[in-house]
Order: sequence, then C-alpha cells, then structure tokens
Amino acid sequence: MERVFLSSPHMSGNEQKYIQEAFDLNWIAPLGNNVDGFEKELSEYNSINHAAVVSSGTAAIHLALKLLDVQPEDTVFCSSLTFVATVNPVLYEGATPVFIDSEPDTWNMSPVAIEHALVDAKRDGNLPKAVIVVNLYGQSAKMDEIITVCNRYNVPVIEDAAESLGSEYKGQKSGTFGQFGIYSFNGNKIITTSGGGALVSNDEESIQKARFLATQARDPAVHYQHSEVGYNYRMSNIVAGIGRGQLEVLDERVNQRRLYLIIIMKLLRIFKALSSSLN
Ligand SMILES: Cc1ncc(COP(=O)(O)O)c(C=O)c1O
Repeated sequence: MERVFLSSPHMSGNEQKYIQEAFDLNWIAPLGNNVDGFEKELSEYNSINHAAVVSSGTAAIHLALKLLDVQPEDTVFCSSLTFVATVNPVLYEGATPVFIDSEPDTWNMSPVAIEHALVDAKRDGNLPKAVIVVNLYGQSAKMDEIITVCNRYNVPVIEDAAESLGSEYKGQKSGTFGQFGIYSFNGNKIITTSGGGALVSNDEESIQKARFLATQARDPAVHYQHSEVGYNYRMSNIVAGIGRGQLEVLDERVNQRRLYLIIIMKLLRIFKALSSSLN
C-alpha cells in the first residue's frame, strides 16, 4: 500500500540557489538577504505594503493579537470551522475565544452570525478585541460583508489566510482584507518553507513592532536590555531562501490545484450520473 499525502511539498528547483547565496555570504541567521527579499517579494505579490516573516503561521497570529493588545479579560471571535492553530494564540494570552458559525456557500464565518454576535456583545458591553476570520482550504470567507460589519463596531479583523495564499476574493489577494493578515508556509500548504509564516499589514509601524517582538523585544541599547516580553519567532535566512524559490511558482501551484479540483468535480458528476442511471 503506497501512502498518498494530502498536500506534499513541491520544490521549484530555485530554492537551492537562494540557500547557496546565504551559505556563500555566511548569513545563517534569522536575518539577511533572503529574509528581506522574501518579505519584499511576498508584499509585492499580495499588493500589501509590509510583511514580517516568522517561524510559523501560529506565531504570526500570536503577534497580531499582541499588536492588538489582547488581554486575559478579552474575547476574540473566531471561525468555528478551522484548524486549532487559529485559536491557540488566543489561549496563549489567556483570552476567551468565541466561535462564530459558518455559512453554507464558503463553509467559512457567516456574516449574519458575526453580526448577531456583535449586536449581542455590544448590548452586553463586551465587544471582542478582535475577530479572526479563516479562509479554509483556499476558499475566501465573504470578506467584504464581514469587514463591513466589523468596521461598524470598530473591531479589528485578523485574516487567517494560512490556507489561502495565492487565492483572490473579488480581485484582491486573500490575506489583505483585515487590519492584519497571516500566511502559513507549513509543509502541507500551497507553498512551503518546511515551516514558517508571515504577518502582513499596510501599517508599517505595526510590522516593525512585530519584528521587534519576534526577536526577543531587544531595546535599542548597546547592552542587552528588554523592557517587554519578546518571542523568538523570526524566520531564518535559510528558510526564507526556500520561501523565495517557492514564491516564484505560487501561481503555477494555484492553477494546478484549480485544475485538479475541476477534474475531481467532473469525475464526481460522471459517477453521480452513472450511479443514478444504474439505480
Ligand atoms: C487555518 C490555519 N490557521 C493557522 C495555521 C497555523 O499555521 P502554522 O502551521 O504555520 O503554524 C494553519 C496551518 O497549519 C491553518 O491551517
């Protein structure tokens, strides 16, 4: 029996070139040309101003929650149909996740359900600190409706686009709708760096702060000085090299996946027609 993987890594061939450059320059560190280049190329690809590449998508969500100052007494509204990593960072901060139901078109967060939840929360004087909207399996949630509702209540949106890098919603790249977007480059994603993630935003100050928090929050002093708690979340220059090579083939991978999906849908229709003609 041969094992069939759900979504196995698929290298472009150029990853080694970027890794070799890092070796040649001896930048085997969580900074260097590949980190800077990957951040720039990822931002350009998504038409968003800034990106910070980090060790995982989970770390990116955690940083977004830190930037939004989520505290233990806060609630964070989250999509109910998702992978646990969407919610774990809420628990890292001791805050309470509140699960918002899905709608049948996209299987993602229902704009109607989030509106009801926000109405109730406002009435109770307990609006959430943030809403984390997931785009599951590359399928965008109804972002325009969700953003409109959240804006009405002044609640920031974190778009968990861990699974939707490369897809678009109404002509705009997935992950660029909320105040923050996050991507994952885990081994099972559309492109992978073996493990990694990114936080994106149009707000430069926030992304600079994210980089600071992701590198142990070291104050700008000649000695080691830390005024707040930081994390060791930065992506390494080697890993970022894999990301640069993978980004070059992202559109190709998205098109291939779309093609497989069309073939599977067609096959399903044929099987359905065959089985109803046999019955
Ligand atoms: C929806 C979703 N959110 C968050 C994550 C977390 O990403 P990572 O595994 O890079 O931490 C994943 C993937 O694993 C995911 O599928």
